[in-house]
Amino acid sequence: PMRPKGSPSCCQLNELRRLPQCHNKLGKLTFDRTHTVLVDVSYFNCGGGIKPQRGRLLWDRNFVKMPYSPENKINKTGFLMSQTQGQRWEVISKKLKDVASRKAANVDQVEEAIIKYNPKYKGQWSFDALSSFVKCIPEQENYFSTLFPKIADLALRLPDQVQKAIPLLQKERPVAVTLSQEQISCLLANAFFCTFPHRNVSGPNAEYHNYPSINFTSLFGNWSLRKKEKLRAIMHYFNVVTNENSKPKGLVTFERRCLRDTDTHNWDSCKETLHKLHVTSDGSIETEGTGLLQVDFASSSIGGGVLGSGLVQEEILFLMSPELIVSRLFTEKLSDNECLIITGCQQFSRYSGFSDSFEWAGPYEDYLERDKWGRMKRQILVMDALNFKRRQEQYSMINVIRELNKAYCGFKGQGPNEPDIATGKWGCGAFNGDPQLKAVIQLMAAAKARRGLAFFTFRDRVLEQGLQDIYRLLVTEGITVDKLYRQLEDYCGVQQARGDQHVDLFQFITNNVQHYRSHL
Ligand code: AR6
Repeated sequence: PMRPKGSPSCCQLNELRRLPQCHNKLGKLTFDRTHTVLVDVSYFNCGGGIKPQRGRLLWDRNFVKMPYSPENKINKTGFLMSQTQGQRWEVISKKLKDVASRKAANVDQVEEAIIKYNPKYKGQWSFDALSSFVKCIPEQENYFSTLFPKIADLALRLPDQVQKAIPLLQKERPVAVTLSQEQISCLLANAFFCTFPHRNVSGPNAEYHNYPSINFTSLFGNWSLRKKEKLRAIMHYFNVVTNENSKPKGLVTFERRCLRDTDTHNWDSCKETLHKLHVTSDGSIETEGTGLLQVDFASSSIGGGVLGSGLVQEEILFLMSPELIVSRLFTEKLSDNECLIITGCQQFSRYSGFSDSFEWAGPYEDYLERDKWGRMKRQILVMDALNFKRRQEQYSMINVIRELNKAYCGFKGQGPNEPDIATGKWGCGAFNGDPQLKAVIQLMAAAKARRGLAFFTFRDRVLEQGLQDIYRLLVTEGITVDKLYRQLEDYCGVQQARGDQHVDLFQFITNNVQHYRSHL
């Protein structure tokens, strides 16, 4: 690519490092104390393919409580109204077999099954969205009555598919779990039929209060046009994974990363200069950013409103790649110094629009290469920005440092051959962030991690131009991360003093750099 001599500027997209060319070498698939693998590792390494790892279920606070655990009980009313406890899985499997044995099932039958083993919620849980959805899809595309039995059948296979306890990815524990795509589909089929125990209560005293919801209840109620498009994506996923010919055959890894304290306090002494940057107002993280580490503009509660009514970047991503939703089953809310990296998930759908204009646009055939562990060469970085109720809150160094550390936690590589990063207006939509400040923060974090950035401004031409200009200036002047950090300190001071009168960060930095130069 042609560049004017002497004026360093943004790079082209193809100058960034991407998968599959750029990839840390993998050894054999192994498990250890920090990495649980739910498929048979020796069988996999011998080329046998994928089969569930045998093991033991555990019913305690460190593992996912499984619907078919013997400890999962249900109250039964017996003779003369006597109360006894029965196995909840007995009731679940009986009802699921009921649905699965039909050629066609309707929403009432699905509802009847779900309520049978969730009796407390009779009259509380609404299925109006699911039934309106099924009614509004034209006949030729309406395959749902034959799909419900297949989802039930898939859910019933859980005891075969997942025999070993799934560890919870808890706070402050940098551990990983690898499962097969088939296991994920089976877990999601159970989420669809709302079988996961102890996961329906919320509130500060609930056992899983610090986890996202997983049973699909909230998706089925509260009909809206958004729900229609969401359900199209979800149903399409189940349609693909319940079909013997199209069901995905690979693995996916979910890895929690925590930044150590020693890594979080040295922004004011970091001497790195800025790394590569590509800025564009065209394209999106998930399409043009393929092969890069793709940032999910997340909620600390992973997946955000995907099972409710939310429909912005994170929710859309999760609908296009529903395997991501299973992270909600086992990932505790992210703390300030944590993120989650998901390797290998598959894309099943295409979309158009955003938020209220979002539409499911049909199937997506994913031809990405797989790595040695059978994972699609796609890496998603789940990182949550701060949600600023008042915009002014973000101009404080406590919050700036929080965002710097969060981004660095995600950007920090684990090997010499990591791909660069695809991001954009992280935290600047639903979460009210200032796009200029967030861009500078991400540039600093990427510099410290020594990785390049592809920045998708999502049609924002002004930001595209502004970011290109400020980047050229910072690189030309050799501005290091510690200097930028001081600029941000000054900027926050000024911004606080001005109250609600906004100071443009790029302008502020430009003035300071020019002022500094003229005093040399
Ligand atoms: N590629 C690039 N940029 C995008 C894309 C895309 N695919 N989609 C949107 N943008 P937002 P947040 C731009 O609001 O502020 C969810 O509920 C677009 O300009 O999704 O971090 C989560 O669960 C958009 O305005 O992210 C959280 O709860 C901007 O990115 C919450 O939203 C920000 O997208 C996170 O909100």
